[in-house]
Amino acid sequence: MSSTVITNIATLVTNDPSLGGSPLGPIQDAAVVIDGDRIAWTGEASKAPATDNRVDAGGRAVLPGFVDSHSHLLFAGDRTQEFNARMSGRSYTAGGIRTTVAATRAASDAELEANLTRYLAEALRQGTTTFETKSGYGLTVEHESRALRIAAGHTEEVTYLGAHIVPPDHADDPAAYVALVTGEMLDACAPHARWIDVFCEKGAFDGDQARAILTAGRAKGLHPRIHANQLSYGPGVQLAVELDAASADHCTHLTDADVDALAQGRTVATLLPGAEFSTRAQWPDARRLLDAGVTVALSTDCNPGSSFTSSVPFCIALAVRDMGMTPDEAVWSATAGGAAALRRTDIGRLTPGARADLTLLDAPSHVHLAYRPGVPLVSGVWRGGVRVV
Ligand code: NIG
Ligand code: FE
Repeated sequence: MSSTVITNIATLVTNDPSLGGSPLGPIQDAAVVIDGDRIAWTGEASKAPATDNRVDAGGRAVLPGFVDSHSHLLFAGDRTQEFNARMSGRSYTAGGIRTTVAATRAASDAELEANLTRYLAEALRQGTTTFETKSGYGLTVEHESRALRIAAGHTEEVTYLGAHIVPPDHADDPAAYVALVTGEMLDACAPHARWIDVFCEKGAFDGDQARAILTAGRAKGLHPRIHANQLSYGPGVQLAVELDAASADHCTHLTDADVDALAQGRTVATLLPGAEFSTRAQWPDARRLLDAGVTVALSTDCNPGSSFTSSVPFCIALAVRDMGMTPDEAVWSATAGGAAALRRTDIGRLTPGARADLTLLDAPSHVHLAYRPGVPLVSGVWRGGVRVV
């Protein structure tokens, strides 16, 4: 197994809180040693051990690869017309999901996979080394299971979202659709997935339906996560905490009781500012959650309807500009926070034993991700110890 030192790092973000300074555990004038697919050592560059290979970071910043814990990349087609209509004043209702369902069902396996790999390559170039992705645009046994089978070839973090909406073919009998999602469709999908998700929202699935769907998934070994409180107040967040879901995602419309529940439970609040940006909706209040002691993750929600961006750096910039986060908090949430939302401790940090997933920025510190919005600052990416960008 060969070892590599990346040295001459101006700022190394470790996310090791024991180092102090900030939850980012930053080290100045640092080096990091990679052994095989793991981090072997971090510290001051002058104290780095001898290695086989040496990479000069040129006085730039290195941070953990981004953990994008929420995306919807198994789809075909796009929704340019809907976006245009929205930018002319129409509001987002999630009704356009049906358009993507029709296009996705019509696509071949090869088209779906080509789409997925295209967005993954895009995300990787922007520093994402772990991503979660979901089904939800098939909504039949055949189309949900094939989406998950394709996804499982590219990531371990696969989520079954048969309960995205009630599809038009079941519009007059939603109960029968819930029975399908918790029965035959679940049986076909569970072998390919780690997680089960439900869109808990008026017009999608109510609290009782969501509880039944997530409980059925859990009985088949899938762990819950929920699209909660995105478009309106509702039961999703408190249900997520009740079921010890790994994450409640969106969290745009929260009561004080919702915030208290999150603060008391283990459920991470995953905020998805790309969605509010692209739907011109109110921003989630990250400051309120952080001040209450809630663990916050930041992710892209990449999908063709509400948030067609694969860029975590863009989401960091939005969160800092419009959601009350400091640059340090936003970078933590997009790395360690995403890992927490996936209940992972081997990623989202650069500490000995962690996976060697790293991002090298063309900037001296992580703050530039928010300070220089829209600029492609990622100039190197290592995944599992291998340089891929
Ligand atoms: O997370 N809200 C539900 N699902 C997606 C949007 C899906 C779509 O509009 O195609 C979301 O925002
Ligand atoms: Fe989503």
